[in-house]
Amino acid sequence: MCGIVGYVGHRQALDVVLGGLRRMEYRGYDSAGVAVLDGAGALTVERKAGRLANLEGALAETGLDRFAGTAGMGHTRWATHGAPIDRNSHPHRDATERVAVVHNGIIENFAALRAELEADGVEMSSDTDTETAAHLVARAYADGPTAGDLPGSVRAVCRRLEGAFTLVVTHADQPDMIVAARRSSPLVVGVGAGEHFVASDVSAFIEHTREAVELGQDQVVVISREGYDISDFAGEPAQGKPFTVNWDLSAAEKGGHEYFMLKEIEEQPEALANTLRGHFDKGRVILDEQRLSDQDLREVDKVFVVACGSAYHSGLVAKYAIEHWCRLPVEVELASEFRYRDPVLDRDTLVVAVSQSGETADTLEAIRHARDQKARVLAVCNTNGAQIPRESDAVLYTHAGPEVGVAATKTFLSQLAANYLVGLALAQARGTKYPDEVAREFAELEAMPAAVHKALSTVDQVRELSRGIADSKAVLFLGRHVGYPVALEGALKLKELAYMHAEAFAAGELKHGPIALIEEGLPVVVVMPSPKGRAVLHAKLVSNISEIQARGARTIVIAEEGDDTVRPFADELIEVPAVPTLLQPLVSTVPLQVLSAEIARSRGYDVDKPRNLAKSVTVE
Ligand code: F6R
Repeated sequence: MCGIVGYVGHRQALDVVLGGLRRMEYRGYDSAGVAVLDGAGALTVERKAGRLANLEGALAETGLDRFAGTAGMGHTRWATHGAPIDRNSHPHRDATERVAVVHNGIIENFAALRAELEADGVEMSSDTDTETAAHLVARAYADGPTAGDLPGSVRAVCRRLEGAFTLVVTHADQPDMIVAARRSSPLVVGVGAGEHFVASDVSAFIEHTREAVELGQDQVVVISREGYDISDFAGEPAQGKPFTVNWDLSAAEKGGHEYFMLKEIEEQPEALANTLRGHFDKGRVILDEQRLSDQDLREVDKVFVVACGSAYHSGLVAKYAIEHWCRLPVEVELASEFRYRDPVLDRDTLVVAVSQSGETADTLEAIRHARDQKARVLAVCNTNGAQIPRESDAVLYTHAGPEVGVAATKTFLSQLAANYLVGLALAQARGTKYPDEVAREFAELEAMPAAVHKALSTVDQVRELSRGIADSKAVLFLGRHVGYPVALEGALKLKELAYMHAEAFAAGELKHGPIALIEEGLPVVVVMPSPKGRAVLHAKLVSNISEIQARGARTIVIAEEGDDTVRPFADELIEVPAVPTLLQPLVSTVPLQVLSAEIARSRGYDVDKPRNLAKSVTVE
């Protein structure tokens, strides 16, 4: 999830582009770069790894007057392909350095395109998927049916790209236009007087204009000083969706929401789709970096998942899937406890380290301990090139993009998805699932972004409900099977955001003590299993709810839509879409995230920055 911006107008492009990047830095801060066209055929580029401040430092050092010009573009990167270093920073150029490209998304067929270019003698100067687009546009512009036609060249290249991408392209021969293209990843046009913008989101240009046009799927836009022109990838005229932005600047960064966490909750379908994209090819599940052979995976006789906080809860869900699919024992361990007992590890143990930041000290020390004992380590991480993936034998990246809210939301759902992929990769290598079964499970996963999107329709109901709970002393959470880790995650979120006493129990444990906590009016959130998928568990949980309701609890039930059996026992029923049992946490977590954030808001707390907490915990 990178941030991109392009500008053609009457102001100095460098100022406009840097202003836009400053506002979009929340989309990625692995590197930043700019390109400016001076109108006399010069294209000047600067790019630097690290935060935008590094780029600004480099620009100041080399002299800002090199960057005079009224057309340009910029990029702030969240690394996907290639480590976050200078040479992988955008913009990328072709060999003649006349074309510059910035890109958000993933070009899935880049390996094939790269091989084709290299076979033709092109020397690549980065490890990115983006650079292939720069070379391809330069070639299409130099020769053939689109020679001298920049929009035509970009359209021709887009027709060859697979995956999700937004591209912004300039050519030194065409100093008065910027061409941008969109498939899946977001792109909006800003319409000013004598100036036009393209960007990942309106925050990049809102200080200059509030008139915007959202591009549709597979569309290309050409912006100039005078106007903008939209076509589809085939070159047929097309329409975007005009709108007027009525948010202020700070709300614009948050997509019109009051806080980042809600925006990030709403980004979950996209985060999931990005995490799954490209991981099933030619009938096989594939990881990102695999320094383990299928033979190594076949020899695994035990799995440990080590992680902290929400990541640990994602591991608890993974246990159900991996044990079921792979017939392998799985233990889930808090990373902070793992190395201080004496876990039994050897080269046939697979340790799955789940960490969105990839820097959590407890998890890092746990994998070091595991590797000292010769165990193999597979990292599930959201940050390209972080320490945990660097020290692991295999890596699966979640592509949730940066998360600004301290509480894990889209990274948590992406961890769940990645853990399922790990389970499928293991089942495929070990032969505990036939290839067609793996393909079927993957197809079910691919349907989940749409299901999560549907689960988001509960936001208004949950918001309303939260107002009636904000003054409660405590909230309890109950679940069974994969609903139990979801209950734990719901309770953690409420503690960390609303500073309320919140506790989760496996519902079967109620009668062994916790039921004594139930008193008149106490809110109890219950995560129901599917009545079809897990009929026995469902019946047992219905009994549990009736027991606590009889003792005065206020029951808030999250259940599959159409689950009428539970209706009489629910003081408040929140319905989520029906999905396969093992995948249920992907939908049932969503209302719990909203609940905790909205209770925190009602209590007057800063949802994005809860007290005493940090986004990455780099001390033990
Ligand atoms: C809770 C939360 C934390 C993190 C935990 C692990 O909302 O965000 O519990 O899940 O600190 O962080 P990572 O995944 O970076 O290792």
